[in-house]
Amino acid sequence: MSKKITVVGTGYVGLIAAIGFADFGNQVIGVDIDKEKVDKLNAGIPPIYEHGIHDYLERNLKSKRLRFSSDIASSIIESEVIFIGVGTPPKDNGDVDLSQVENVINEICKNLNDYKVIVTKSTVPVGTNKWIKEYIKEKTNSDNFDVVSNPEFLREGKAITDFFHPDRVIIGYESEKSKEILKDVYRSLYLVETPFVWCNYETAELIKYANNAFLATKITFINQIANLSETIGADVNEVAKALGMDGRINSKFLHAGPGYGGSCFPKDTKALVQIGAKYGVNMSLVKEVINSNELQKIRMVKKLENVLGDLKDKCIAVLGLAFKSETDDMRESPAISIINELIKNNCKIKAHDPKALNNAKKLFGDKIIYCKDSLEAVKDADALILVTEWNEYRSLDLNNIAKLVKQKIIIDTRNMLSPKKVKELGFIYEGVGRK
Ligand code: UDX
Repeated sequence: MSKKITVVGTGYVGLIAAIGFADFGNQVIGVDIDKEKVDKLNAGIPPIYEHGIHDYLERNLKSKRLRFSSDIASSIIESEVIFIGVGTPPKDNGDVDLSQVENVINEICKNLNDYKVIVTKSTVPVGTNKWIKEYIKEKTNSDNFDVVSNPEFLREGKAITDFFHPDRVIIGYESEKSKEILKDVYRSLYLVETPFVWCNYETAELIKYANNAFLATKITFINQIANLSETIGADVNEVAKALGMDGRINSKFLHAGPGYGGSCFPKDTKALVQIGAKYGVNMSLVKEVINSNELQKIRMVKKLENVLGDLKDKCIAVLGLAFKSETDDMRESPAISIINELIKNNCKIKAHDPKALNNAKKLFGDKIIYCKDSLEAVKDADALILVTEWNEYRSLDLNNIAKLVKQKIIIDTRNMLSPKKVKELGFIYEGVGRK
């Protein structure tokens, strides 16, 4: 049976969930306090760049199963299931800022007119769902509601595909009634036999952090192996390929590079360390992953310095600003640390990215030069540093670039180019872990 759902928050998590649940056949209201965003969404304009989102948004708006509103009270009153998909950014000390979640909970308390299931999709520290349950009970003097934890595992750029084809769905729950309702909400996935993990709140909450911290650790591990490969004369691509052939390890998330970034791994690793500290458990491995990842970003600049010598007043072309390809998102992108380090060294920076230039302008203002394509960026550059693995950079016009640059130096932080071909054109080439 289709359900009446409100999803609060129309960022990456909330918006994809709202569209996805509507596509499953539910009646969905996506709520956001940003009226301008709501108007755009109702007009079929997605506020984020995400593959396939436009078609799905349009299709579900047309079917009238989906609409957007900034009226949180009436949306809650109308709905049986409330998904919380608002931001949970890190505070300066690494703790999670739960103020947006708290605001939504307070709205729910004020508008709890009938039985409702409140589902946390935002990533929240262990203990939050239990707290939400106790808080609502105390505030409303009612237990005509259930709380469910349903963490999200979407990758940016592949969020739509991930939503419709998840490896598994995690549901932390306490009552059978809420379990049956969640089965209805996810009915389409249930019918195609997606694995569902039914567990308690704490388990669901920890799965999310453990998952992201494990992947961040896997990347950091291969980055350290890459650094060792450089020194001893091994090729990290071959090492990673062989590791990946071991079914127990698998080949994913073994691409050496400039360090992980994005909205999840940096935030969730830090939060896991804080959660450990709160309960007196030393998450020393995760702490070291965080440190090592910071060093990896700066190591990319050191590579440049090793080849170029003093960086002062050098002109550097930075190709790629987003934290990974297929997104305009620059949150915690290695490009930020790299550019800041170059600015510290008084370099002139000419940057290009197929999608992230607008976000870069918000971060760097007039401190760097923004270029419409890679050729404009490399003109008169002393070196070129590739930071994001955009497909268009795999087929760079190297013949032309060789004529435009001042010095033929390429730092390929994603191992995208063929060192042989690049060197044939007279470039000095530095990859990661492939001496
Ligand atoms: C991630 C998780 O995959 C997702 O499940 C979670 O819910 C949110 O965080 P996302 O941040 O979109 O998704 O990016 P992802 O594709 O996982 O990449 C994260 C970072 O790791 C990027 O900076 C990427 O470039 C880097 N990375 C990834 C590597 O450096 N090497 C790899 O092998 C894989």
